[in-house]
Amino acid sequence: MNSNPTDSQAFKAAVRTHWDAAARGWDGHSPAIRAWLRGSTDAMMAMAGVVPGARVLDVAAGAGDQTLDLAERVGPAGAVLATDLSPAIVALAQERARRAGFRQVQCRAADGEDLQVEAASFDAAVCRLGLMLFPNPLQGLREMHRALRPGGGVCTVVFSAPARNPCVTALMATALRHSGLPARDPFAPGSLFSLGQPRRIDALFLEAGFHDVATTAVDAVFRLPSVDDYLAFVRSSASPILQILAGLSEAQAEAAWNDVREQLRAFDTPTGWEGPNELLITAARRP
Ligand SMILES: C[S@@+](CC[C@H](N)C(=O)[O-])C[C@H]1O[C@@H](n2cnc3c(N)ncnc32)[C@H](O)[C@@H]1O
Repeated sequence: MNSNPTDSQAFKAAVRTHWDAAARGWDGHSPAIRAWLRGSTDAMMAMAGVVPGARVLDVAAGAGDQTLDLAERVGPAGAVLATDLSPAIVALAQERARRAGFRQVQCRAADGEDLQVEAASFDAAVCRLGLMLFPNPLQGLREMHRALRPGGGVCTVVFSAPARNPCVTALMATALRHSGLPARDPFAPGSLFSLGQPRRIDALFLEAGFHDVATTAVDAVFRLPSVDDYLAFVRSSASPILQILAGLSEAQAEAAWNDVREQLRAFDTPTGWEGPNELLITAARRP
């Protein structure tokens, strides 16, 4: 896909359409997402060097959950530009920033592989759970590199290996099986685990020109009252899964959801539901 610009544009058009449709669901689950990603978000901001007064680029910002944290950290003397491929989701980020009174936040629809920002104009860049969805993540990293001033810091968060993320793996496998589709290469470009192979993401950062590249694997357990709360989140906002199920009738899709619910009950605990996830946090610096 990387070598064929037409395929890449068609892929991104589909991604945009599906995230436009999932935008309200993702936004509506912000409190759960926020709690799930609290530790990785704090680490990401610290590793990228987000400090008071900094100018920060937020790539694939979604509905702006981490954008609000960035705005808080840089304070009124700083600036945050939140960008996302989906105009619908980035409009929600803008609305949340406005409601929170963060005048230092600007939001703009932009492909992470072609950001249209001035070169060397940011002190730090972050991308939380977005880079793995790019058909050409190397180009996304090159764009962040170009946007950073020399010495500027970058930090991304992506899913690690399929075996370390059993809920996502079960969702993908069940959706494909019920849709009559063959199993897919879990590491295919643009897929949820595309950057989950050991050392793959480090190699891309180095190829993009970054120095001091370091990746840390962190646990990010999704804790919710019940498996049905997790499924409610996935059903309204997990665009890659919904994209696979889009061709099924209502009854067929319901059978797929029932099947996956039974599998995910394996993560019921006496106090609620705890879905294991592992994320890779990669930090680096533009020389
Ligand atoms: C899982 S959501 C994460 C959103 C947000 N960063 C968060 O953590 O809440 C993935 C986001 O990546 C965006 N995305 C996917 N491909 C993109 C691309 N090529 N350029 C920019 N954004 C992209 C989607 O539109 C979606 O908003």
